[in-house]
Amino acid sequence: MTHSKRGRVIAGNWKMFKTQAETRAFFAAFNPLVAGVTDCDIVIAPPSINIPAAVEATKGTHITISAQNIYWEKEGAFTGEISAGMVAEAGCRYVIIGHSERRHILNESSDLVSKKTHTIYSGGLIVIHCVGETLEQRDFKQTLNVIRSQLSELQRKIITDPSRLVIAYEPVWAIGTGRNATDQQAQEVHAFIRQTLGQMWNPDFASRVRIQYGGSLKPENAKGLLSQPDVDGGLIGGASLKADSFLAIVNAAASLT
Ligand code: PGA
Repeated sequence: MTHSKRGRVIAGNWKMFKTQAETRAFFAAFNPLVAGVTDCDIVIAPPSINIPAAVEATKGTHITISAQNIYWEKEGAFTGEISAGMVAEAGCRYVIIGHSERRHILNESSDLVSKKTHTIYSGGLIVIHCVGETLEQRDFKQTLNVIRSQLSELQRKIITDPSRLVIAYEPVWAIGTGRNATDQQAQEVHAFIRQTLGQMWNPDFASRVRIQYGGSLKPENAKGLLSQPDVDGGLIGGASLKADSFLAIVNAAASLT
C-alpha cells in the first residue's frame, strides 16, 4: 500500500504560539490558499485555549483541528488539565501525544503517554503518537531500541482502526534546531516503525498507518523527505506558524500524491 492509498497528512504544531487574534489572522490568510488542496489532510494544533477560535475559523474548509495534549482521565480533580471529551466537543479530530517537549520538559512518563493514547482512541479521536531519539541515543546506536520501546506505549488491543493512528517520527535533535534528518535517515526509521507496527498488529494494519516525519521540516527539504516510501506526511513546528511556509509544505505533499 502506497502513500496515495493511506493518504498524506500535514500537521502544524503551534506549541505555545499565537494569540486568538493571530489565530484568526492566520486562517483568514491560509484558508483561501489551500481551498483547492484535496489530496492531503491538513491539520493545525493550536494551544488549547485557542481551539474554539481555530474551529470557528476553519468551518466549511477541509482543515481539521488537533489538540496538543489531554489528560487521560474522563473528568475529575486534575487542576489545569483538559479531557479528550472536552477537546472532541470543542471540535478537535486529532490529539498529539508523547511529544518530546512533554516527555522531556514536562517529564511525561511512558506510562502516562500510554494511558493517553488509550483515552484518545476510545474517545473517537485520531492519535498522533510522537516517537524519537535524542542525539546521545543516536550516537550510542540506540535509535531503533528507543523507537521500539516508545511504540510499545500504544495499546495494541484497544487500537483496531489504523486510520485513527498516526505515528510522528521526530528525532529530538532535529526539533527546532534547523538540522533535519536526511531523507535516508528518515526513511530508515519510518520503515522500521512500519515493520514494528506489523509485528505488533499485522502487516496489513501497518500498511494503513500514516507515519509523519517531524523536526525542522521546511519548504526547502519537504519534497525530499515527503517522497520517501514510508513518509506519509509531516508534523511541523516553526514552519507552520506562517501561512506561506506551511502552504509550501502542503503543496509539496499534494504534488506527490
Ligand atoms: P520544528 O518542530 O518543525 O520547529 O522542528 C517540530 C515539532 O516539534 O513537532
